[in-house]
Amino acid sequence: MADSNAPPIIETRDLTIRFGGHVAVDNVNFSLQPFTLKSIIGPNGAGKTTFFNMLTGQYKPSQGSVLFKGRDITGLSPAQRTKLGMGRSFQLTNIFPELTVLENVRVAVQSREGFGFNFWRNFRHFSHTEDEAYATLQEVFLDGKWRATSAELTHGEKRKLEIAILLALKPEILFLDEPTAGMSQEEVPAILEMLGKIKDVRDRTLLLVEHKMDMIMSLSDTIMVLQEGRLIADGEPEEIYKSEAVQEAYLGGGTVRD
Ligand SMILES: Nc1ncnc2c1ncn2[C@@H]1O[C@H](COP(=O)(O)OP(=O)(O)OP(=O)(O)O)[C@@H](O)[C@H]1O
Ligand SMILES: [Mg+2]
Repeated sequence: MADSNAPPIIETRDLTIRFGGHVAVDNVNFSLQPFTLKSIIGPNGAGKTTFFNMLTGQYKPSQGSVLFKGRDITGLSPAQRTKLGMGRSFQLTNIFPELTVLENVRVAVQSREGFGFNFWRNFRHFSHTEDEAYATLQEVFLDGKWRATSAELTHGEKRKLEIAILLALKPEILFLDEPTAGMSQEEVPAILEMLGKIKDVRDRTLLLVEHKMDMIMSLSDTIMVLQEGRLIADGEPEEIYKSEAVQEAYLGGGTVRD
């Protein structure tokens, strides 16, 4: 089980970013316990993706800092953060369309192990990287499509492949920005089940941005709510569900589930 007294894996101090005169993220202090799943919710334009981008290094904050395992990483590039064990899924930009599904994941396994000096050793041990890639595909329920080229996949399957590629890189913390965006209704339950499985193993930390409230409520250990760049609530799902501030933020007093 997650140890609530463990030091946070990632935290922010007074994290702020301005675009021109507009404060997109405003003084956010947050922390995430290792081996838990936290979701970020909030109305459109609340600053969720911008906040993510500052954690993963795509955006530099105007003010404040980001700490990974207690170390200030505010000045590090996205690539340096990836090396430390922070993994972010990009909207389908890291998939090679001409390769098969299995090959795409194998490339990720190999890149984690390093080409360079070890290339020939890896080449001779080809089957081990292939076995690992296949096992990762099973984790995301995509093993049935291992032979297909990724160009042949549906949008939802591509998102699963993207998550498999991310898992193959074995990050300690996974950042997922709307993994179900653009998916058909039928594809969403598999993603939910997959995330539930990843979470239950409790060997990774997940930070998720999602709009699907049922999914958020059932999956999350904790939920943080952004509104106009400010953190207005952070707590367990039940607490968030009952929070008046959160209900105000959504639909001026309507329920969060609407
Ligand atoms: N590069 C940028 N330049 C200028 N403004 C930006 C930039 N990136 C984000 N913003 C602004 O910051 C605010 C927060 O946007 P952000 O994309 O983080 O919201 P979000 O919560 O992810 O919304 P959604 O739910 O629609 O994805 C918006 O007003 C947006 O226009
Ligand atoms: Mg967004």
